[in-house]
Amino acid sequence: PTLEVLPNPESRSTEEREKLLVDPGFGRVFTDHMAVAIWTRGQGWHSAALTARKPFVLDPAAGVLHYAQEIFEGMKAYRAQHGAINLFRPEQNARRFNASARRMAMPEISEEMFLEAVETLVRADRDWIPDGEGSLYLRPFMFASEAFLGVRPAEEFTFCVIASPAGAYFKGGKSAVSLWVSDHLNRAGPGGTGAAKCGGNYAASLAAQAEAYEQGCDQVVFLDAVEHRWVDELGGMNLFFVFDDGRVATPPLEGTILPGITRASIIELLRRRGVEVNEESYAIDQWQADARSGRLSEAFACGTAAVVTAVGRVKGRSGDWTIGNGDGGTFTAAIRNELIGIQRGLVEGPDGWVRQV
Ligand code: PLP
Ligand code: COI
Repeated sequence: PTLEVLPNPESRSTEEREKLLVDPGFGRVFTDHMAVAIWTRGQGWHSAALTARKPFVLDPAAGVLHYAQEIFEGMKAYRAQHGAINLFRPEQNARRFNASARRMAMPEISEEMFLEAVETLVRADRDWIPDGEGSLYLRPFMFASEAFLGVRPAEEFTFCVIASPAGAYFKGGKSAVSLWVSDHLNRAGPGGTGAAKCGGNYAASLAAQAEAYEQGCDQVVFLDAVEHRWVDELGGMNLFFVFDDGRVATPPLEGTILPGITRASIIELLRRRGVEVNEESYAIDQWQADARSGRLSEAFACGTAAVVTAVGRVKGRSGDWTIGNGDGGTFTAAIRNELIGIQRGLVEGPDGWVRQV
């Protein structure tokens, strides 16, 4: 169905908007509109519209509130030169959304409908895209809205896209973050939902994230759930390791980590440059040993929200270690700049990576 466009008569004034855009942080400020659509068994997708952003009316028995049948995506719109607005590989988000939907027994949505919802929202709220370093974070999501307490896939779902002007994900735009190694709380196991972008994975990560804060760390790094030995990913970012011989490694996609679009893009950019990138398991003890011997020169986390952020320090029950001088390095800074340059249309990237709205 094509989207019916119903502008918000109560959109905030230019002055109000500009005040909110001075220091938006991450995920706190929201735009004036949202895109919505409903799926009903037997009928498919219908009632697609762009409307004023407003609360949902949700039955207390709605499936999502009980059994967490919910998935989401995270993507950004960037200001480019000459007034253009860029999306970065949004088709990849549409594809991953459908992969998540299949895993969570939810209906798929056509790539066209996903992109139309995102682009119509970006057009309506284009004035909310911050200038400079900021971007408009887009959050497409879908949840079980049917009122029913039996445990089975719901028969009604709501799809929605909201938008949030964003500055740096880490407060103060830190140059390097610290990680706490979660050695007893797991994020995802074999055959589980680790590769799907479903709310439940994030719920499962929060106790470990709280531990990280208690330990004075910024983020939690999860290990594999079977041996507690192999590095998986962070609560909301993938990891890369840079070695002193020029090789780069990142954990493989074996079903327990999210297949990051930033991760895939970095692998492609590095390989194009002739860098050897290995998708291979890396043991937490090896990480400690390599950091101490200097064989590991840099490590960084990546994702849509955090872009590319150096890992400076790791803390676990078996000890702490610092990577390089603890402030990140030139390799991490270069890949970050290249990626940001492509997203903003300042650097030519591989064909089709940037889609103008
Ligand atoms: N891993 C997790 C658990 C995430 O939530 C994210 C963020 O979306 C990523 C990795 C990075 O994925 P992407 O690069 O597609 O944003
Ligand atoms: C994203 O990068 O889009 C994410 O979903 C990560 C989340 C922690 C904000």
